[in-house]
Amino acid sequence: MKNITIIGTGYVGLVTGVGLSEFGNKVICADVNENKILQLNSGRIPIYEPGLEEIIKRNVKNKKLFFSSDISSSIKKSEVIIIAVGTPQLETGKADMQHVDSVVKVIKENLNGYKIVCTKSTVPIGTGKKIVNTLKNSFKENSDFNYVSNPEFLREGSAIKDFLWPDRIIIGTNSINAYEVMCDVYRPLFINKSPISHTSVETAEMIKYASNSFLALKISYINEIANLCELVGADVHDVASEMGKDGRISGKFLHPGPGFGGSCFPKDLESLSSISDEHGVKMDTLTAAITANRKQKKQMCNKLEKLLSTGIKDKVIAVLGLSFKANTDDIRESSSIDMISFILSMGGNVRAYDPIANNAMSQLFSNISYFKDVYETIKKADALVIMTEWNEFRSLDLKKIKNIMNGNIILDTRNILNMKELSSLDFVYDNVGRIKI
Ligand code: NAD
Ligand code: UGA
Repeated sequence: MKNITIIGTGYVGLVTGVGLSEFGNKVICADVNENKILQLNSGRIPIYEPGLEEIIKRNVKNKKLFFSSDISSSIKKSEVIIIAVGTPQLETGKADMQHVDSVVKVIKENLNGYKIVCTKSTVPIGTGKKIVNTLKNSFKENSDFNYVSNPEFLREGSAIKDFLWPDRIIIGTNSINAYEVMCDVYRPLFINKSPISHTSVETAEMIKYASNSFLALKISYINEIANLCELVGADVHDVASEMGKDGRISGKFLHPGPGFGGSCFPKDLESLSSISDEHGVKMDTLTAAITANRKQKKQMCNKLEKLLSTGIKDKVIAVLGLSFKANTDDIRESSSIDMISFILSMGGNVRAYDPIANNAMSQLFSNISYFKDVYETIKKADALVIMTEWNEFRSLDLKKIKNIMNGNIILDTRNILNMKELSSLDFVYDNVGRIKI
C-alpha cells in the first residue's frame, strides 16, 4: 500500500482520494482552495455525491485520508502524486492547461527521491510527454520519477460505485516499475479481477477522449433518431430498447433527452476536435455529435415555444431540475442553462427548483425565483418543464399539479412522466421522440 497525494480535490480528486484510501492506501487530498480544505477538515463535504460522506468519514477516522492545502509538503511525503485538477475548455475549444502546468511546476520544485507522477485529469494527447520533459529538465540530486497516464471513467452521481467497481483501469506508462506500483495502488481491484491494462502514455490519453466522444456520439445519435421518430410516428423508447438487445450496440447511453451536458462531454469533444484539426484531420463524426447536441438543446426551447402558442412573454414557467443530470449538484453545461436563458430572452418568468443545485444555479441566474418545494414552484405556472431526471420528478402528483397550475402545459425533456395519465388529465404535453397517447 502506498503514500499518495492527489492534487486537485474536485469531483474526481475527492472521489479518487476516498476510493484509494478505501483500498488501504494512505492518501492526502491537496488543493489550492483553502476554503475547500477547511470545510473537509471540519467534516463538511463540498460536493453532492451519493455515498461520499459516509466513506470519507470512515477513512478519515481510520487515518487513511487527509486533506491539506500545503501542496509542497504533501508531495514530499508521498511516493505517488496524482494530478486531478480541472482542464476546462478555452474559447478556442482547446483544453485550458494552466492548472496542470502550475501543478507540474510545484511537483518539479518538490521532487525528493523517487516518485510516480500520474495524471488523472483528462488532457490532450501528448501532455504526458511534455510533463516528462519539464520534470526531466530540472533534475535535482537524488530525485527521479516515472510517469503514468491513468485516465478516470467515473460518472458524477454514481462516482463511488464507478470508482470502486470500474469496467477497467488504464495504466499508460513506459516503465514496468511504475506499472507495478500502480497495480499495487489498485490492488483490491486487481484481486477482484477488474481488468487492468498496460498501454503507452499516448494510448491511455487517447482512450479517454475516444471513450467520452463515443458515448456522446451515441447520445447525439439517439436524439436525432428520437426527433425523426416524432415525424414518422415511431416510438424512440421501443426503438432504443430493441436496438440495445443487439450486443454489438448495447442499450446503455441510448436514452434521448435535452442534449448532453456536464463538465466533460462538451469540452472533451471540442478538445479532441481541436487536436484532430492540429493534425490536419477532419473528424466528421465528432463535429456531427457536437452540432447535433447544440441543435437538441435548441430543439427543446422550440418545443416550449410551440406548446405556449400565445407566446412566452410574461408567462410564468416552472423549470424542474437544474443539474446536468440527476444525483449531482453540478450545473456545468447543463441544458437547463440554455432553457432558462431562452425563456428569459423571450420575456418569460422562471420559477426554478432542484433538490440540490438551486444554490449553484443562483450564482449564474440571480434574476429568477428559486423554491425549496416542487409544488410551491409549480403553483400558478403557465407551463412546466422537466429538465433533469431526478427520481422525485418521476412520481409527481399530476392531479395536484393540474389543480395548482395556472395553465396545462408540460414539456418533459427526460421522458419520465406517464403519458396516459397526462392525457387523461387533459394536459397539453410534449416529450422527446414518443408516440403521444
Ligand atoms: P473540479 O473543477 O471539480 O476540481 C478541480 C480542483 O482542482 C478544484 O478543487 C481546484 O481548486 C483544484 N485546483 C486547481 N488548480 C490547482 C492547483 N494548481 N493545485 C491544486 N489544486 C488545484 O474538476 P473535476 O470535475 O474533478 O475534473 C478534474 C479532471 O478530471 C478534469 O480534467 C476532468 O475532465 C476529469 N474528469 C472529470 C470527471 C467528472 O465526472 N467530473 C470524470 C472523469 C475525468
Ligand atoms: C461522463 C462519462 O460517462 C464518464 O465515463 C466520464 O468519466 C466523465 O464523463 C468524464 O470524463 O468526466 P458524466 O458527465 O458525469 O460522465 O455523466 P454521464 O452519465 O455520462 O452524462 C453526461 C450527459 O449525457 C448528461 O447530461 C446526461 O443527462 C446525458 N445522457 C447520458 C443522455 O442524455 N442520455 C444517456 O443515455 C446518457
